Amino acid sequence: MISVKDITKTYHQGREDIPVLRGISFDVKPGEFVAIMGPSGSGKSTMMHILGCLDTPTSGTYLLDGRDVSTLTDEELADIRTRRIGFVFQAFNLLPRATAVRNVALPLVYQGIPKNEREDLAKDALRAAGFDESRFHNRSNQLSGGQMQRVAIARALVNDPAVLLADEPTGNLDTKTGEIVLATFQKLNDEGRTIVLITHEQDVAEHAQRVIHLRDGKIMDDRRVEHRRVATL
Ligand SMILES: Nc1ncnc2c1ncn2[C@@H]1O[C@H](COP(=O)(O)OP(=O)(O)OP(=O)(O)O)[C@@H](O)[C@H]1O
Ligand SMILES: [Mg+2]
Repeated sequence: MISVKDITKTYHQGREDIPVLRGISFDVKPGEFVAIMGPSGSGKSTMMHILGCLDTPTSGTYLLDGRDVSTLTDEELADIRTRRIGFVFQAFNLLPRATAVRNVALPLVYQGIPKNEREDLAKDALRAAGFDESRFHNRSNQLSGGQMQRVAIARALVNDPAVLLADEPTGNLDTKTGEIVLATFQKLNDEGRTIVLITHEQDVAEHAQRVIHLRDGKIMDDRRVEHRRVATL
């Protein structure tokens, strides 16, 4: 599904080159739950932006569903970003004054789906993300952090993407709420969803089946792990 080979990314600041990714290769198969770990500044978010087609590598190849991403037009890339990939960020990035349902339905507006249908799809996604029905019509600024992150997960799911990319999705949550959000990812993975999750916390990574360790823009370690299941949900 995802195949990256010899990916590098170098930023330029004035005359200085800042190598951030220095030859990254790995594959993610359909249905896998992969955690990417590494210290701050090791290039995790940079890698995620490339996987999400939000940024392009300096060199190397990225095949998504067998297609070389660098050969795609802007239109094709935009289509991939809306239909094939769901993003969950550390900062939930919700519209504060829109309801939970409206926040989730928003990505569907650009696809010309009628309003009633959008709302039904949004509600299905909210249920899949374990979001409390009684809060469907609360504005997102009237929700707790854990509830907001579930709305963000639902929004990422609403297009039924092939892969969910999550960058520190529990970074702004307390441990208990973080566990509930992780249980949501685990459930989605049990249902067959492919997940790539970035974290710098070991206990978060333990929910994945495989952990890739980055350090200074290189893969130090890539191994399958015995994953710990959470009892909640
Ligand atoms: N646009 C940019 N221009 C120059 N340098 C950048 C840019 N974006 C990121 N960097 C640098 O690239 C390195 C990797 O950044 P990245 O955001 O990928 O790290 P990270 O592993 O996600 O860290 P964290 O755990 O703190 O989120 C950092 O040293 C950062 O300063
Ligand atoms: Mg980061």
